[in-house]
Amino acid sequence: MKNSRRDFLKKTGITGAGFVGVSLAACNSQPESSDPFPQTYRQKFNMSGYAAPKLDVVRIGIVGLGNRGTGTVRRLAGIEGVEIRALCDLEPDRVQRSADNIKHLGHKPDFYSGHEDEWKKMVERNDLDLIAIVTPWHLHTPMCVYAMENDKHAYTELPAATTMEECWQLVETSERTRKHCVQMSGSCMGGTAAVILNMAREGFFGELIHGEGCYIHTLLEFYLFDKDMYHNMWRLKANIGKNGNLYPNHGIVPIMQLMDINYGDRMDYCCSISSDDFLMNKTAKRLAEEDDFWNEYVDRDFRGNMNVTTIKTVKGRTIVLNHDVTSPRPRGRRLLSGTKALYHSSPDRISTDQNHTGWGHYEWISDEEFNDLMEKYSPEMNKRFDEMTSQAKQLDKSGHSYYETSPVDWRLIDCLRNGLPVDMDVYQAATSSALTPLSIWSVKNRAFVNVPDFTDGAWQTNQRTLDIQLERGGGNTKLV
Ligand SMILES: NC(=O)c1ccc[n+]([C@@H]2O[C@H](COP(=O)([O-])OP(=O)(O)OC[C@H]3O[C@@H](n4cnc5c(N)ncnc54)[C@H](O)[C@@H]3O)[C@@H](O)[C@H]2O)c1
Repeated sequence: MKNSRRDFLKKTGITGAGFVGVSLAACNSQPESSDPFPQTYRQKFNMSGYAAPKLDVVRIGIVGLGNRGTGTVRRLAGIEGVEIRALCDLEPDRVQRSADNIKHLGHKPDFYSGHEDEWKKMVERNDLDLIAIVTPWHLHTPMCVYAMENDKHAYTELPAATTMEECWQLVETSERTRKHCVQMSGSCMGGTAAVILNMAREGFFGELIHGEGCYIHTLLEFYLFDKDMYHNMWRLKANIGKNGNLYPNHGIVPIMQLMDINYGDRMDYCCSISSDDFLMNKTAKRLAEEDDFWNEYVDRDFRGNMNVTTIKTVKGRTIVLNHDVTSPRPRGRRLLSGTKALYHSSPDRISTDQNHTGWGHYEWISDEEFNDLMEKYSPEMNKRFDEMTSQAKQLDKSGHSYYETSPVDWRLIDCLRNGLPVDMDVYQAATSSALTPLSIWSVKNRAFVNVPDFTDGAWQTNQRTLDIQLERGGGNTKLV
C-alpha cells in the first residue's frame, strides 16, 4: 500500500507537502456556481425610487375575477380616490357578480368577457391608470407587459413571472415605459411583519445572519384536485413538468425586505433540492378509479412535494425557502436570525442574547415582553392604516370593504395619489419570481446557480423603497 502511494506521488510529480497543499486548497476554494442565465441586459432607467406623475384619481381595470380577484375588486373599491372603471373575466357572471359587489360605493365599471383576448380591449382604453391582474400565473407577465406598453401601471398577483425571460421582460418594459410593475401581496407591510421589519431596521436583531421563509399551504384535495376550484384546472397543471419552487414570492419578499435585498445587498447564488412526489400521483390514481375526469392526471411528471432552496447573499447572509402545497401540515414559519436576537413566526416569538439560560441555550421572551416590543416598534404605516380602518368603520358604508383592504393595496394607491415612489418595485417582482426558474434549473442539474442582478449594479446605491415610517409622506388616503 505504502509503495503504491509513493509511486502515485512520484508519477503525478506531487511530493509530501505539495500534496497536502493541493488538498487543502481544494477544500478551501469556493464552489463555482453555474451561470445558465447569463446577464446581458444593461439598465435603461432606474425604476427604484422613481415617482410617477401624481394621480388625484386612480382609474382601475381589473382582470381575473375568480377566488382571489373577487376580493381584489372589493379591496380596491374600498380605497379613497379609486374608480373601478372596467372589469374583465372570461366568464360574464363573474364580471356581473363583482360589479354588484361594489355598486353601493358608486362604481359603475364597463364589462369585458367571453373571449381569451377581451382583456386587451380593456387595457387599450385611454381612461385607465392601473391594471390589476388576478389571472392564472402564465398570464401575469403578458398582461403586465401589455398594460405598461399601453401606458398603465401594472399591479399583479404573484408570481409576476414564471420564466427568466419573463422576469427580464418585466424589468425592460418597466424601465422603458416608466410604468410601475408591482406585485400585489407577500410583504412586510402591516401587522407583526411590519413591526419586525422596523425592529430589524432599528438594529434590534443586530447584524442579520439568516432568514427563512416559505409557502406551506395544503392545497391537495380541497384546491388542486377540486374540479371547480380553479379555472380550467390551471393550478394542478402548473404542478406538472416543473420541479422547483413554483410560488416563492410569499416566502422570499418579506425576507428580501428585511435583508434589504436590492437596496444594499443582493442574492448571489442559490441551490435547490426537491423531494419526490409522494402525494399528487397517488391522489390522481385514487380519484381516477371513481371518475374518468382524473385519468389525464395519472402518472404525470408531478413536482416533488417539498422544495428547499438555499440562497447566499453578497453580504454573506443565508436564506432558506420552502415550498410545499401538498403535505398535511400546519402553516410554515418565517424566521429571522441576527447577532443579537431571533424572530420566529407561527406562533410569534422572539429570543434575545439577554435570555441565555446556560450551556448555550436561549429562552423565548415572555408574551408580555413581546407585546411591549410590538407596541414600542409599531411603525407609522401600521398606525396610519389602523387609523384609516377605524375611521371607515365609523362610516360603515362600504359593506365592510375596509376590512378586506390590505396595507399593500392601500399604500399603492396612496403612493400613486401622492406622487411618491411605490413601496415595491419591478426589481423586487423580478428577483422574487426568478427563484422559480433558478430552483427548477438547480433541482434538475444538482448544482449551485447564480442569481441575476435585475438592478444591474444599482443595488449598491439604491435606497430602501418600503417606507415603513412614511418618511417620504403620504399615508393620508382614507378607506371608504
Ligand atoms: N396573494 C394571495 O394571498 C393569493 C391568494 C389566492 C390567489 N392568489 C393568486 O391569484 C391569482 C388567481 O388565483 P385564483 O385562485 O383567483 O384563480 P381562479 O382560477 O379562481 O381565477 C382566475 C380567473 O381568471 C379568469 N381568466 C382566465 N383566463 C382569462 C383570460 N384570458 N381573460 C380574462 N380572464 C381570465 C378565470 O375565468 C378566473 O375567473 C393567482 O396568481 C394566485 O396565485 C394570491
